[in-house]
Amino acid sequence: MQASTEFNQLARLDKVKQLASKAFLAGLPKAELHLHLDGSLSPQLMFDLANKNSVALPYQSVEEIEAAYQFSDLQSFLDLYYQGAGVLQTEQDFYDLTWDYCLHCKADNILHTELSFDPQTHTQRGISFDTVIGGTLRALKDSEQQFGLSYKLMLNFLRHLSADSAAETLESALLWKEKITSIGLDSSELGHPPSKFTDVFAKAKAEGFKIVAHAGEEGPPDYIWQAINLLKVDRIDHGIRADEDPKLMEYLAQHQIPLTVCPLSNVRLCVYEDMQQHNIFKMLGQNIRVTVNSDDPTYFGGYLNDNFFALADAFPMTQLQAIQLAHNSFTASFISYPQKQFFLQKLISYVEQFNAKEK
Ligand code: HPA
Ligand code: ZN
Repeated sequence: MQASTEFNQLARLDKVKQLASKAFLAGLPKAELHLHLDGSLSPQLMFDLANKNSVALPYQSVEEIEAAYQFSDLQSFLDLYYQGAGVLQTEQDFYDLTWDYCLHCKADNILHTELSFDPQTHTQRGISFDTVIGGTLRALKDSEQQFGLSYKLMLNFLRHLSADSAAETLESALLWKEKITSIGLDSSELGHPPSKFTDVFAKAKAEGFKIVAHAGEEGPPDYIWQAINLLKVDRIDHGIRADEDPKLMEYLAQHQIPLTVCPLSNVRLCVYEDMQQHNIFKMLGQNIRVTVNSDDPTYFGGYLNDNFFALADAFPMTQLQAIQLAHNSFTASFISYPQKQFFLQKLISYVEQFNAKEK
């Protein structure tokens, strides 16, 4: 039987109408589709690598690093994020960073992850593309072998840099084409609309990459339209400002363009005053394919399960809503149809077994 038929049967059960407990959320099989590798650098690893590589940081201790993480907007975060990434120097450093995140995938029951890396952050300061991707892929392969983590890699262009720099980065990516699934766009959104990168994304699409862009995190709904119409995206990162444009909301629902939403990130970067203001359930209720993600977990106060817990604390989230979010995370991923069916089956079995135990 197809997983979708079983899912519909599951959705009719009374038990899924109850509130999702933290135990239910913690064990829920899920995928993560919006995660910046440099944003999973823990203060401890940053401190240790700074010492090892003799990189000067304006902090005397791990506690001082943690205390600095008070942000007023995206740019105030990016300034610290790029500074932190400067401690990464060797292939082994990128391995250690990636391995750390993979262990969190295991802990949070993330069965499949699509990690983003930003090569320009590192090539600009003299670290080679091969050093970055080599260490990252070695850790991913080890986690696949050791605990079965499924993964895809996304390369992001930094939008505060020029379109020429993005085109140069795409040339390097072509040498690793078999290992990179998608091309995305991140960094400072305001003042750097998708239209700046139309040509280089057309080339990336022609080369067969899936296309993703951060849009509508701080930028207006028009940036989301540009990502759709000019960059021809398969998925949008964030996209939360879509709800200022009813036609766009309708379009996203009709075309089932996935949005990778990052609740803790949005609150920490002051897009919302608090979690209760978040629009993820409004969008879910309007049949938009939203997913939950951690974005930059070590900077924003939590990994993927912490994002689910924060939503459950702020909203009366039912099991069915949580299942829909997890379901979306697999269907919005870039894995094959049989792989999606395999993971959706695991999701269904998990819910059945969890509720059979809970009398
Ligand atoms: N937005 C844009 N660029 C980023 C982000 C983000 O949330 N995290 C890391 N780079
Ligand atoms: Zn992001």
